[in-house]
Order: sequence, then C-alpha cells, then structure tokens
Amino acid sequence: MFTVLAILISYLVGSLSFSIIIAKWVKGIDIRQHGSGNAGATNTLRVLGKGPGIAVFLLDIAKGVVAVLLGIYMAGGDWGPVLCALAAIFGHNWPVWFGFKGGKGIATTVGAMATLAFIPTLIAGIVAIVIIAITRFVSLGSLIFALLVPIFIWNISDKPLSYVWAGLIVCILAFIRHRSNIVKLLQGKENKLGARKG
Ligand code: G3P
Repeated sequence: MFTVLAILISYLVGSLSFSIIIAKWVKGIDIRQHGSGNAGATNTLRVLGKGPGIAVFLLDIAKGVVAVLLGIYMAGGDWGPVLCALAAIFGHNWPVWFGFKGGKGIATTVGAMATLAFIPTLIAGIVAIVIIAITRFVSLGSLIFALLVPIFIWNISDKPLSYVWAGLIVCILAFIRHRSNIVKLLQGKENKLGARKG
C-alpha cells in the first residue's frame, strides 16, 4: 500500500515540469514551442539563458532525489527506491500536469541515480561533463552518461541488482527520448551548447 502511494507521489512530483513552469513564469511562453521544443534544462538555457537553465536543472534533479528518498523511507526494499525513481522520470517525460508532453529525463535521472548509487553516477557525470565541454553537444553527453551509469553500478558498486536494472531502464528511456537528437548528431545538424535558437 505504502509502496503504491510512494510510486504515485513520485510520478506526480516528476510531472512538475519546471522548464514549463519557469518559462511560463519568467517570459510567459511555452518552452515546448521554442528552441529544440524539449521541456528540459538544456532548452531552458538555450531559450531563456543561464539563470533559468540552472534553476530548472537543479529543480529537475531534486525531483529524482525526492522520489528515491520516498522510495527508501515509504516503500523500502531493493525495488521500492528503484520503482519511485522510474516513476519520477516517467513523470518528467510524460507529465500528467502538462498533457503528457515533457522532457527527456536526464536531470531527473541524475538526481535519482545519484541518490541510488552516488559514486557510479558521479563518475558517469564527470565523463559526460568532459564530453559536453569538448563537443558542446549536451545530448551526446547525456547519452554517454545514461550508458555509463548501469555499467558503473554493475562494475564498481555493491548495490543490489535492482539498481543495475534501474540504470538499464533509464538508459533505454534516455535513448528513446533522444531519438531526434541521435538523428541530428548523425546528420551533423545537432544544436551546440551556446548556439541560441528560437
Ligand atoms: O537532456 C536533454 C538534452 O540531452 C538535449 O536537450 O534541448 O538539446 O534536445 P535538447
């Protein structure tokens, strides 16, 4: 019962799409109609600048943290925190409050996975930051981050197998949500960080 409630609350928290909320609040626009059209921190940075972009990034990370803490304290076990993490990322990607049209889930994944398995997520995050700094492609860094998280949880932590599954599922979700970015990367048409659009 508590597990179901924790998963439901996590989904509702994840559905708080801060890029949509902050873009509406700061500029009266729907972020999904500007830039890449994605409801996320990168597109907020692109369209509204550093302050709102960083605010969205931190708030979206916080959703993942809150969900895993709910999972640990309300649901418990090896799977409770994992199911709550996934529910928050689902909420971010398909938010009930905003017509199920949300973001790509990376910031919320960062918060959730860092709370589940800090060191593996930190190392994957450092690699991603280096890749983004070199290439200026946030999407490429996000995808490599998503790929590395389950690999590192499996190899360098003693976390339960359910956490490896969490990493694998968020990796699959990240690739599904970045389909258009992957096509653009392959075509050489992907947006670079710092190039304003919309
Ligand atoms: O996390 C989203 C990022 O990887 C790509 O965002 O707006 O460039 O599609 P965007």
